[in-house]
Amino acid sequence: MQVVICSIIAACGGLMFGYDIGISGGVTSMDSFLLKFFPKVYEKKHSAKEDNYCKYDNQMLQLFTSSLYIAAVVCSFIASLCCKKFGRKRTMQLAAAFFLVGVILNAAAVNLLMLIIGRVCLGAGVGFGNQAVPLFISEIAPAKYRGGLNICFQMLITLGILIANVVNYGASKIETYGWRISLGVAAFPAILLGLGSLAIVETPTSLIERGKTEDGLRVLKKIRGVEDVEAEYNAIIGATEAAKKAGNPFKNLMKRSSIPPLFCGTILQVFQQFTGINVIMFYAPVLFQTMGLGSNASLLSAMVTGFVNSLSTLVAIFGVDRFGRRFLLKEAAVQMLISQVVTGAILYSQLGSTNAISKPFSAVVIVFICVFVMGFAWSWGPLGWLIPSEIFPLETRTAGFFFAVSTNMICTFIIAQAFLTMLCHMRSGIFFFFAAWIFVMGCFAKFFLPETKGIPIDEMNDRVWNKHWFWRSFFTDQQQQSCVTPEEV
Ligand code: BGC
Repeated sequence: MQVVICSIIAACGGLMFGYDIGISGGVTSMDSFLLKFFPKVYEKKHSAKEDNYCKYDNQMLQLFTSSLYIAAVVCSFIASLCCKKFGRKRTMQLAAAFFLVGVILNAAAVNLLMLIIGRVCLGAGVGFGNQAVPLFISEIAPAKYRGGLNICFQMLITLGILIANVVNYGASKIETYGWRISLGVAAFPAILLGLGSLAIVETPTSLIERGKTEDGLRVLKKIRGVEDVEAEYNAIIGATEAAKKAGNPFKNLMKRSSIPPLFCGTILQVFQQFTGINVIMFYAPVLFQTMGLGSNASLLSAMVTGFVNSLSTLVAIFGVDRFGRRFLLKEAAVQMLISQVVTGAILYSQLGSTNAISKPFSAVVIVFICVFVMGFAWSWGPLGWLIPSEIFPLETRTAGFFFAVSTNMICTFIIAQAFLTMLCHMRSGIFFFFAAWIFVMGCFAKFFLPETKGIPIDEMNDRVWNKHWFWRSFFTDQQQQSCVTPEEV
């Protein structure tokens, strides 16, 4: 029970992250916001002559969305050092503090500079939070439930997005200052994480790693609810000693045997973003307006996709430790590929430069976007965070996870910064571009990704990488035990 409560509190970091993802699309489609900060986009939006696909193509507008992620990249590096030196819990508290400052600057913004600086502080909060939370949960969770508990983080990301969509829908009705409400409500998740994190335990691994072995043992007994924790305690001690002997985690990442988790952890994040999910999460209202839907209908449709996203994440929570990671990834790749192709084909055949799509076709597009979001929500979304948090041995865990988090943020930045321009130039072709990526990632999941379901976090090298048909070649003969085929791993 203790573990579940701690996981849920920590996962409030996901709520902060999700709220930010969901809020920008709605805010950037509000007229009062555009008039104040982006008058040129406002003019373009209301000009009948403007090309459908190019209405929102503005670098500064994209910078509003993307600045957060570039700040998050830099901060996740500092956060990885913080996680190691001061622990996961303190890092989460710092996340909440940065985030609150960002919210205040944003909600009170009087000019573009204040708005962007606010976004940068929010980015710092997200960088610290996304580094500490998944690690925290993976370390306190028992192996059997690690997947499901870790996905609480994703669940709260999706709830954050959904709440943001609902707040945007309500706030858009308040003409002059609705956007300030949208941006200000982000304070709640930060306060929740800040206060909640005062009440949670530090992870036994982090305590032991920092020399507090007695505290580590006490917390381990407390979170497992039993006195006999010797086996797990010894595994952590063993992993910590190995990590100490190995020295600097960043240097260790250069070793040949670190390549398999490093490659898989980071490529999963690239793939997660190149599914195209954030086109929908950031720009759904804008995309729906591009198709010719009114602004009310667009915000409403964004709420529907937000709802589908949250609900489908439940499938991952209950399925991931039962069906395994690879099954979910492969199934969803097929589902998402079909959805992107259908959406692209409809836009290609129906949406010209100045017309609107007919109602039935709009409905079909919205349905397929929901099918796409569903697939993402029970696979590449949560597993993009879960797998990198569980595949590194302790000696490279914080550093390796840093590469994963920052890759995610860089790719999110690229999509946020480039999508509206890509839409303007590639038009409906952009959906085929994402479909091609999905094909590649499906193949990767089938042939190269090992299964990590149910394996204790400190036994990954021995039981996963050393046994994988391809990745085992990165270990010395001594480390290798037996060879197995891809279907067995
Ligand atoms: C991704 C976000 C995405 C969200 C959607 C997360 O796992 O990292 O970029 O917006 O899922 O639910």
